[in-house]
Amino acid sequence: MASEKPIRVTLLGCGTVGSGVLELLGRNGGYLAKRVGAPLEIAHVVVRDKARARSVKVDPALLSTDAVACLDDPTVDVVVEAMGGEEPAGAWLARALAGGKSVVTANKALLAARAPALIAAAKKGGGDLAFEASVGGAVPIIRTLRDHLVSDWVRSLRGIVNGTCNYILTRMRDEGAAFADVLKAAQELGYAEAEPSLDVDGLDAAHKLCVLALLAFGAEIYPDEVPTEGIRAIEPIDLRFAARFGYAIKHLAVGRETKNGDLDLRVHPALVPARAPLASVDGVLNAIALEADGAGAQVLVGRGAGSLPTAVSVVADLVDVARARRAGVPGLLTQGLEVARRPLALPGSQEAIWYLRMRVVDRPGVLAQIAGALGRHDVSIEQLVQEGGAGRRAGDRLDGATVGDDTRVIVFLTHVALERDVRAALSEIDAASYVQGRSLALRVEG
Ligand code: NAP
Ligand code: HSE
Repeated sequence: MASEKPIRVTLLGCGTVGSGVLELLGRNGGYLAKRVGAPLEIAHVVVRDKARARSVKVDPALLSTDAVACLDDPTVDVVVEAMGGEEPAGAWLARALAGGKSVVTANKALLAARAPALIAAAKKGGGDLAFEASVGGAVPIIRTLRDHLVSDWVRSLRGIVNGTCNYILTRMRDEGAAFADVLKAAQELGYAEAEPSLDVDGLDAAHKLCVLALLAFGAEIYPDEVPTEGIRAIEPIDLRFAARFGYAIKHLAVGRETKNGDLDLRVHPALVPARAPLASVDGVLNAIALEADGAGAQVLVGRGAGSLPTAVSVVADLVDVARARRAGVPGLLTQGLEVARRPLALPGSQEAIWYLRMRVVDRPGVLAQIAGALGRHDVSIEQLVQEGGAGRRAGDRLDGATVGDDTRVIVFLTHVALERDVRAALSEIDAASYVQGRSLALRVEG
């Protein structure tokens, strides 16, 4: 093997993911060389600050801040991007692909914005573009959709695709922990994005849904087209009420073909039946449940974030593209991939069972007024629970609202209702003087 010409790699970024990649290459270099048929050799490690302390040992001679020189190095075969953000990563990867290099990236924000253009650039340059780590951390969902289901047609997917959100919801449910404290822990564990609002406001999951929709449905879709909600409005009481009704609350990315062939794509927290596989996927775990014509139902589960879980997926891609280069057939990963614009379901046009939670002043007639507003908008109540004292316990997040002793929490499960009807009923209810703050509406999924 030593006599084989090495596959040379420029690594862009040496933070949580990049350092994991270097650790795995260091630990397993000999075996990886056997599997590739040539050693994998790090040629350059591009960072912002060469003096910064790293969690992995890096030869100082490899560190560089001159990205262009490292990208243009003619001895380099593969560029691995673990930096994040749309720019300069987008321009640098376009440059690498135009130069005929293969690219491996974990950058779902960039892919969500530019995957069709990057795929086209890979095809034109003759290299590969691989992005297993962009969705699901260690979960092999990209190769499942791209390769394993190549003969099949995916009709729907439901995914827990943001590890930070799942970790926060799990600890809020199990410990009643405060949102801000758990988010801080997720940052310390390397789960959260550099800008954690991307996680908790749902945009990271929307980015991942765009990547999944590209492979599952052949759809060219951009994040601003995906109705997106995060988890900031969820409180420990919602997790408790959901459990009482027989559900877990999970932050989901959902994609499915409607009966008329439109795509219904959305990101939001939802109630998942306790017996459904996604309900028991806790902590930093991710899971993607697929329904396909031939394969039927399947669920992939694994660690969705963190240094080594993500790096495992990056290195799997690196091995794929390195093998292809060694065999003289780069470009197979995106060969024949087609994406096109597809009609999207109209916002508000989908039906679901809804969980509605509101805080109201405990006065005679309030319940009748709420039921009246729901009824006027064709929303029929299936179950109702009222809890005294605003339903909060010590440690619950207050969202800045001052809640008096005469406040009650009322929670409804509806019969199947149209989203636009539910929203219209809630805007009427929230405008009433007896309601405190904004009501919460969550779909039941599954
Ligand atoms: P990170 O810890 O913040 O590391 C980013 C690295 O990129 C740092 O080494 C930084 O250099 C370097 N960098 C950033 N901007 C740069 C620039 N303009 N020029 C040169 N170097 C630059 O981020 P991360 O968590 O590893 O995430 C990296 C990517 O992987 C992101 O796209 C993220 O969404 C994705 N991802 C992360 C996870 C996860 O669990 N963390 C999982 C899946 C995918 P310095 O070290 O010098 O600052
Ligand atoms: N911040 C992301 C998450 C990293 O929490 O899922 C993995 O993509």
